[in-house]
Amino acid sequence: MRSIRVNASTDYDVLIGEGLIDKAGELTKKVVRPCKCLIVTDDTVDELYGDRVQISFSYAGFDVTRFAFPAGEASKNLSTLSDILDALGAAGMSRSDLIVALGGGVVGDIAGFAAAIYTRGIRFAQIPTTLLAAVDSSVGGKTAIDMPFGKNMVGAFHQPVRVITDTDVLRDLPALQLSNGAAEAIKCGVLNDPELFALLETGDWLDRIDEVVERCAAYKRDVVAGDEFDTGNRAFLNLGHTFGHAIEHLSHFALLHGQAVAVGTVMAASAAGCPGEMIERLAECMKKNGLPVRCDYPVPELARAALSDKKRAGGTITLVLPEAIGKCHLEKVPVKDLPAWFERALAAQEALKL
Ligand code: GLY
Repeated sequence: MRSIRVNASTDYDVLIGEGLIDKAGELTKKVVRPCKCLIVTDDTVDELYGDRVQISFSYAGFDVTRFAFPAGEASKNLSTLSDILDALGAAGMSRSDLIVALGGGVVGDIAGFAAAIYTRGIRFAQIPTTLLAAVDSSVGGKTAIDMPFGKNMVGAFHQPVRVITDTDVLRDLPALQLSNGAAEAIKCGVLNDPELFALLETGDWLDRIDEVVERCAAYKRDVVAGDEFDTGNRAFLNLGHTFGHAIEHLSHFALLHGQAVAVGTVMAASAAGCPGEMIERLAECMKKNGLPVRCDYPVPELARAALSDKKRAGGTITLVLPEAIGKCHLEKVPVKDLPAWFERALAAQEALKL
């Protein structure tokens, strides 16, 4: 089992290894004395792993109840949050009890937010069951729900007490879900880890998925330790997200988050004026992992959609621009210049015939 220690307002370990889902109760008991616990999950994950996780926590001495909501981003709303809070109340849970978030990013975000606000904050553990959640959203304490006026617009920073990633579960994911998570892992490689990128660009890393998750979690640990509340360098984690957010939005979320981030990362490198060979290498890496590399939306629409991103601050937006594989920088860009950045990206991609 691999272990990454995150130092934030709550210190915790990210545990990564095979077969951990059946040991989740015991592994959590090392940091939380047995208490009442609500497992929050979605109906898809519940069917696959709900019983095993419940048995594991019961066996470790926890008094377990379970709440499942319909799978999908559409559930990440106030109504589901209210149902989770009701389930916590009905189970008579207090501030000394525990929520277990079992699932992908939607489950982690909404269960984490419920944990942040129920009785002004109770502990929660994350058991990510998608690669995307394992390499990104389960670590770092960002929790949120979507609102009619935007994604992740209401939330809180609330760190988990433990993250338990079972790599057998990740290996069993459908190819599309692996691609979706691979995009965020490639992002970590481009930001900071050329060796991780080299592994991912082979497209043949499933038997080294423990290492992929560990390297991403280690990078996230460093970023979160330096800027837990996202006022500075945590912005690096948004590589590909300003362009990607626009594309995701314009596709009406038909594109998965990772697919949009893949296109957005290639666009960021293109807009940054990276050498052609580097952009081509990045695009090849995306394709090897079943990810798209370009979109055909018109620039004015892309720029308009990008501006609905909550990361915009007044008249500027911070872009994450690659320089080389493993090195990026932040650049504050006036909002009025965004169309020119999109133009530059699309022109470079056109010239390379991506
Ligand atoms: N997923 C980006 C962050 O944790 O800041």
